[in-house]
Amino acid sequence: MPDNKRILITGNNGYIGSVMAPWLQGQGFDVIGLDTGYFSACTLVPDRAVVPTVRADLRDVTAKELAGFDAVIHLAALSNDPIGNLNTAWTREINSQGTIRLATLAKQAGIPRFILSSSCIMYGTSEAAVVDENSPLAPRTEYARSKVEAEMALRALADDRFSPTFCRNGTVYGLSPRMRFDTVLNDFMGNAFTTGRIVIHSDGTPWRPVVHVQDVARAFQAVLEAPLETIHNEAFNIGAEEINYQIRDLGRIAAESVPGCELASVPQPGADQRTYKADFAKFKRTFPGFSFRWTAKDGAKELYAAFQEIGLKHSLFTDKRFTRLSWLRHLIDSKSIDESLRWTEVRADASRNRAKVSTG
Ligand SMILES: NC(=O)c1ccc[n+]([C@@H]2O[C@H](COP(=O)([O-])OP(=O)(O)OC[C@H]3O[C@@H](n4cnc5c(N)ncnc54)[C@H](O)[C@@H]3O)[C@@H](O)[C@H]2O)c1
Repeated sequence: MPDNKRILITGNNGYIGSVMAPWLQGQGFDVIGLDTGYFSACTLVPDRAVVPTVRADLRDVTAKELAGFDAVIHLAALSNDPIGNLNTAWTREINSQGTIRLATLAKQAGIPRFILSSSCIMYGTSEAAVVDENSPLAPRTEYARSKVEAEMALRALADDRFSPTFCRNGTVYGLSPRMRFDTVLNDFMGNAFTTGRIVIHSDGTPWRPVVHVQDVARAFQAVLEAPLETIHNEAFNIGAEEINYQIRDLGRIAAESVPGCELASVPQPGADQRTYKADFAKFKRTFPGFSFRWTAKDGAKELYAAFQEIGLKHSLFTDKRFTRLSWLRHLIDSKSIDESLRWTEVRADASRNRAKVSTG
């Protein structure tokens, strides 16, 4: 895909989006964001660039608003299991129904490419040694089910005018303006830095593919630029063989990155034993020139340096702004968003806000 193509990135204001959108902008794409801004106030480090952003809920978007784009990168979602457990209906409505509606409108608007940010979580706790894109899907949570439902429905929309692609990410880590400390390596590093101690509650054996947020941005770019026939209606596990880690390895890497940090194992009944070792051969085969630049060790070093610069304290590390579930709960409790997860104050003048292009 040549430069300056027009790309709509939903969820550009979130953890991955606030890295990916400026990255693609820097690569010459004309990027417009669309985000309801749940986490606009949750900034750990400054934004890297100004990205024109329409503040809107993806559930309310119209086909007219989608006219003129060459591709949609769809990141917007309620982005983890705990939020899905809080209220299953919200996750279904935004992640599956919202995605299906958005893709249907994108197709109607004549947008040829639609890249869905999906997840390896859909493989569930796999009995298989490794899971590839043809492995049975065994979603165990509402969040995982929402991604499966969205993928299935989008598959049915594919035709010679509309090419959906499903990028199944591992767990993402690394520094982002809209930081999340509720993903595994970021959490380990925050604990290591602010308490000098990492506690692993599972038995440490579960496999977890982890991928750096900047590599995710680059991988999505590769998909964006690929000939349609290579990515049409295809799913890809996003990562590389060498970035499959066991939880105990991630704990060790984080502990070794912070001088004096202790690594403790305190197995607890009911601890997170989800395990999935992903096979990344298909991505490698399809994108032979692409290499994942970040290892978990590099990412741990990056976070350590950033935490030093910020002077990260335990109170900031555990602040509700950096745990998606806690912040959404806060928005609900403070009545900033209503029972449908829409902003209460935006509702009154929604059309004005939707027309307005802001930055973020
Ligand atoms: N972070 C990971 O480890 C990871 C792993 C696999 C897949 N993913 C997927 O990648 C995507 C991005 O993840 P993230 O970590 O950046 O999540 P995030 O929670 O940080 O960002 C999601 C963004 O979507 C926006 N959003 C949510 N609902 C919306 C709605 N109804 N209308 C408009 N905007 C809405 C939020 O305001 C937020 O800015 C998600 O689809 C997630 O499921 C993330």
